[in-house]
Amino acid sequence: MILIKNVPELQNWIVKQHQKGAKIGFVPTMGALHNGHISLITNSKKQNLLTICSIFVNPTQFNDSADFEKYPQTIESDLLALEKAGTDLVFLPTQAQIYPNGLADCPVYDLGNLENVLEGKYRPGHFQGVCQVVDRLLELVQPQKLFLGQKDFQQCMVISKLLTLKQSTIELVICSTLREDSGLAMSSRNMRLTVDGRQKAAKISQVLSNIQNQLNTHTSISQLIASGKTILLEAGFDSIDYLDLVEAKSLEPINQWEPQKQAVLLIAAFLEGVRLIDNLPLINDNNFLQFS
Ligand code: PAF
Repeated sequence: MILIKNVPELQNWIVKQHQKGAKIGFVPTMGALHNGHISLITNSKKQNLLTICSIFVNPTQFNDSADFEKYPQTIESDLLALEKAGTDLVFLPTQAQIYPNGLADCPVYDLGNLENVLEGKYRPGHFQGVCQVVDRLLELVQPQKLFLGQKDFQQCMVISKLLTLKQSTIELVICSTLREDSGLAMSSRNMRLTVDGRQKAAKISQVLSNIQNQLNTHTSISQLIASGKTILLEAGFDSIDYLDLVEAKSLEPINQWEPQKQAVLLIAAFLEGVRLIDNLPLINDNNFLQFS
């Protein structure tokens, strides 16, 4: 596995690979890797792509600077896991390489309402920051395919919009959420839960499946959502930022269920002070982006 820390070296390597006709799969990360991240690498490798992973904790996507400061850094175990997964190259840029003009003059993207709802409502500016770093990384890495995890569903839709805005030919591959045996979506935050909390957290995916199962027979979406929230609060969750059924691409709310709609159930909830997110796509259109 090659480790590169600067842009000219990366670009040299990429030019050589393109000359050889290699196709590149790219997995951007902020490190603190778990099996969910590794599954993105595995997916890219399975598609016979030369696989590049970046590790960069992007300051512009944190609306709380304290969160940025205490973001977990586990570089040694990350590199071991990436090597084991067959990653071809790890890119570890500095802030100056990603933002050569400084942080004050970053581009602004027209993301429409996508950046104001759900996560965007609770983390203002977050998705602009995500676009700034992903745009720059794509410019440097020039991959054919970009692999993102479905767990951050809204991020996937935002990046899909970014690719459209940039008229990019890069294909976005959304990889399924990896789950623990209990159904809990894998996340580095799960480590902050107690053993009991981890058991309770599994209720999130149960609530999402329950809502899905009742959508065709239940007339009121708002009642289904309200009873889902009650189940979680009664199970001991501290609070719920949102639990919503929305149109999968625009993330506009759905008030009337129609099975042919491409939809997604999304949730963010606090348990033991840890903010957990999850989602359940209700998508039956094979052309709806590329899911794997
Ligand atoms: O999902 C993440 O880890 C980050 O938002 C990403 C896509 C690496 C951009 O910093």
